[in-house]
Amino acid sequence: MAQDGEEVKKMDSEDIFEKVKGILKKDIDKDGKLKKICKLLADDVEHYDWVGFYLVKKERLVLGPYVGEPTEHTDIGFGEGICGQAADMEETFRVQDVTKEDNYLSCSVNVKSELVVPIFKNGEVVGELDIDSHEESPFTDEDEKLLEDICEEVAEIL
Ligand code: SME
Repeated sequence: MAQDGEEVKKMDSEDIFEKVKGILKKDIDKDGKLKKICKLLADDVEHYDWVGFYLVKKERLVLGPYVGEPTEHTDIGFGEGICGQAADMEETFRVQDVTKEDNYLSCSVNVKSELVVPIFKNGEVVGELDIDSHEESPFTDEDEKLLEDICEEVAEIL
């Protein structure tokens, strides 16, 4: 139990990263690996309520494996919403309060914040890892670092 003044550890990044590397080595197909990574993240991190991969096809972001509520946003253009902006700007987007973001595609009224990390291969965006949270302002540099490290590993199988 956390003592007074002691920060409660929200996630064990090292452990999660090792598990991701284990999943990527499994003898299963690409979508199976991506789905297992989504499930791992959603199970192991309390503030991750929707976890999914978008994959770039014909310069659009097409929804791949995910865990969470179904979404109508299965095909997103570059520049559209938080996902499209992250792809267009080629950078991680951390939105701690989605009500303050004008260019936002809502998936569910429960979502309060979102973190989108592009996946690069040979310098090009080939996909994204998208996290929605029902908490406001839950994301820290630790989330970003973990997800960027995961995306580097995932790039190898795309
Ligand atoms: N909110 C995203 C759309 C995808 S869903 O979060 C699953 C956006 O604004 O691009």
